[in-house]
Amino acid sequence: MTTSDFTEGIEKLIRPELAAFGGYSAATSPEILEGKVEVPVESIIKLDANENPYGCSPRVSRALANYKNFNIYPDDGQTRLRKLLAGYAGVDAGHIVAGSGSNQLIDLLLRIFLNRGDEVISCVPTFGIYRFSTELCGGTLVEVLRDADFAVDVAKVKAAITKRTKMIILTNPNNPTGTVIPPSHIMEIMGAGLPLLIDEAYYEFSGQTVSPLVSRYPNLMVLRTLSKWAGLAGLRVGYGLFPPKIAAYLLRTKIPYNVNVAALVAVEESLQDIDYLLGNVKSIIGERERLFRELARINWLKPFPSQANFILCQVLKGEARKVWQKLQDKGVLVRYFDEPLVRNYIRISVGKPEHTDALIKALKELKK
Ligand SMILES: Cc1ncc(COP(=O)(O)O)c(C=O)c1O
Repeated sequence: MTTSDFTEGIEKLIRPELAAFGGYSAATSPEILEGKVEVPVESIIKLDANENPYGCSPRVSRALANYKNFNIYPDDGQTRLRKLLAGYAGVDAGHIVAGSGSNQLIDLLLRIFLNRGDEVISCVPTFGIYRFSTELCGGTLVEVLRDADFAVDVAKVKAAITKRTKMIILTNPNNPTGTVIPPSHIMEIMGAGLPLLIDEAYYEFSGQTVSPLVSRYPNLMVLRTLSKWAGLAGLRVGYGLFPPKIAAYLLRTKIPYNVNVAALVAVEESLQDIDYLLGNVKSIIGERERLFRELARINWLKPFPSQANFILCQVLKGEARKVWQKLQDKGVLVRYFDEPLVRNYIRISVGKPEHTDALIKALKELKK
C-alpha cells in the first residue's frame, strides 16, 4: 500500500459532508504579503479586520512582560475572569462565560443546541462565523435577507421560523453593514420564545445594548468581545451573557482552560484602564465620521452610515475586487464582498487619522 492509498483510505473515514465545507475566509495577515506589495510589511495599513488601531492598554503590555506564571494552567472555572467581566457588563457572574474570542462561544453555543438538520436564522449580509459553526454542527443556516437599507425585516424573520429552528442570531451593530436594530424589533423577535443571540461585538462603538434584559428573559443571550474596544484581538478573549442554566452547560462543555492566562491578565489590566481605552473608542468614533465624509466625496464610492468601527461602501464604478487588490498592492488592506445585497462592496475599518489620509490618497490614485 502506498502512502497516498493509505491517505485515501483514512480520508474515507472523515465525515463526508466536510468535503464540500467551505471554511471561513479570514482576514489576510500582513506577514504573508511580504514581497507581494509595494511597501515593507511594517508599513502595511490594516483596515480589513475591524481591529483597534491604537493597540491595547500600555498596562497590558507591562503586566504581561512582568507575569511569572505562564507555566501554570488558568482556572478552568474562570472564577476571577467571570467576576471581572460581570462587573464590566453589569450582571451577576453566574450569567458570564468567557471564550478564546467570542467566535469560540458562538461555536460552543451552537454545539450545545444543534442536532443534525436543525436550523439557525440569521439576517444577511452578516458575520460569516454563524454559517461556519452552524454547518460544522450539521445544521442549516436560514438566511433572511435584510431590506435595502440593511435593516432587519422582523416579519420575514418570524416567517422563517420552523419546528427545526433552534436559534435566531442578530448582530447589533451588524458586520459588515454597521446598522443597528431598534430595541422594539429585538423585543418582537424575542417574543417568539426561541433562543435569541444578540452579537454585540461592536457595542462600545454604538452604545446600544440589551444586556440589562438578560436577567429577565430566559431566551436572551448577548455576546461581547475585548477584540475591538480593548485592542485585544490577538489575545483572543470574548464573553457572553447567558441565562445561568445555559452558562452552566457552556462551562461544562467547553474545552478545558479555554481562555489563557495572558488573556486573563490583559482583561484585568484593561478594566483598570477603561478611561484610556474608551478615550480611544471616542477617537475612533470621531474618525469614523471624518472617514465617512471623505469617502462620500469620492464620486465612485457610496459609504453607508455605521455605528461600528468600520464603514461599508458600494463601489459604483468599477469592480470592488479590483479596488481591494489595487489597494492591497499599495499596502492598504480592506475587505471586499460579493454576495447578495453587498455585491461589489468594500468594508473599511476605521484607523487613525493618518490611516484615513493614506487610504483616501490611495483611492484617489486608483481613479487615475
Ligand atoms: C459581529 C462579530 N462577532 C464576533 C466577532 C468575533 O470576535 P472575536 O472572536 O475576536 O471576539 C467579530 C469579529 O470580527 C464580529 O464582527
